[in-house]
Amino acid sequence: MKKIKVVIFGGAGFVGNSIVKLIDKKKYEVVVFDNLSTGFVSNLEDIDEFEFVTGDIRKECDVDNVLNEAEIVYHLAALTSVEESFYKSELYYENNVYGTHNIVRGMLKNKVRKIIYSSSSAVYGEVLANGYDENFLPNPNNIYGLTKLDGEYIIKIYAINEGLEYTILRYQNVYGPKQSFDSDYCSVIPLFINNALNEKVLKIYGDGEQRRDFVYVEDIANANILSMNSGANETFNVATGELLSINYLAEKIKQIVNKKIKIEHYPPRKGDDLGSVVDTSRIKDELKWSPQTTFEQGLLKTYNYYAGKN
Ligand SMILES: NC(=O)c1ccc[n+]([C@@H]2O[C@H](COP(=O)([O-])OP(=O)(O)OC[C@H]3O[C@@H](n4cnc5c(N)ncnc54)[C@H](O)[C@@H]3O)[C@@H](O)[C@H]2O)c1
Repeated sequence: MKKIKVVIFGGAGFVGNSIVKLIDKKKYEVVVFDNLSTGFVSNLEDIDEFEFVTGDIRKECDVDNVLNEAEIVYHLAALTSVEESFYKSELYYENNVYGTHNIVRGMLKNKVRKIIYSSSSAVYGEVLANGYDENFLPNPNNIYGLTKLDGEYIIKIYAINEGLEYTILRYQNVYGPKQSFDSDYCSVIPLFINNALNEKVLKIYGDGEQRRDFVYVEDIANANILSMNSGANETFNVATGELLSINYLAEKIKQIVNKKIKIEHYPPRKGDDLGSVVDTSRIKDELKWSPQTTFEQGLLKTYNYYAGKN
């Protein structure tokens, strides 16, 4: 039987590689497409049976070529820093918005059936009430969030007008092995673990009582796999529904790493809201997805990875 071709834009990145890993290669022909701007070929080192194509989603011919005979697209290729998006806004529009438009147009030309789009809770902006669901009016408060929302609308416009199928997954804070920790914009978990391993200070901005929903990367990959054949033309929050404070996180990491580590508090950063709980009933009901990894399990796996224990 002929395999179904799946193209993963941004597959060499932190989240993308774990999707590449989970796809059933007996059934699917997997092509990873990436310009390696923030991703690494080494992220794919432990994965077999896929083709790697170097290319840029902003280049029409790169995208058109790779989409030939494809049936499903995963789209993760994006620039992802909230801070950077403010002073490199043109680059963010070009990459995240124009790039998404290019992929969608390439899909129509090549008659590709479905796109599974990695979106972000950043589309909501600051939400003050707990229990907000996918119908909550998006109101991004940074350029990154705006570009992710634009990507969603571009996909929906072509779904309405051209019959493209989509699933939009809005992730909360993803964590796990292979996440970058050495850039200015890295996420708090890899940053704290690596600082702790090197006996550097864990810096907390504000009182540390701001809370976040952390989802393990393998659970995110699972939501992507489930979206391949269900959840058509739906948008889902992908989250645990539980919030953990930055203080709790720092203490937990200090415990696991078990070295002499100082935790210091600094003035709050602009726009660092308190955090609120997101409703996950839709993804549970419709995709039958729920997180399988407890925070303790996920944190230990992540620590083991950075400590070189696996
Ligand atoms: N990591 C999170 O916490 C999180 C949360 C919400 C949403 N997301 C979304 O998930 C997706 C993946 O995020 P990630 O954390 O894995 O980031 P990442 O930077 O590790 O992965 C992005 C990948 O896309 C590639 N890429 C970027 N621009 C490209 C271009 N123009 N052409 C080709 N390839 C390009 C990069 O090289 C990289 O491999 C992003 O779309 C992001 O917006 C991530």
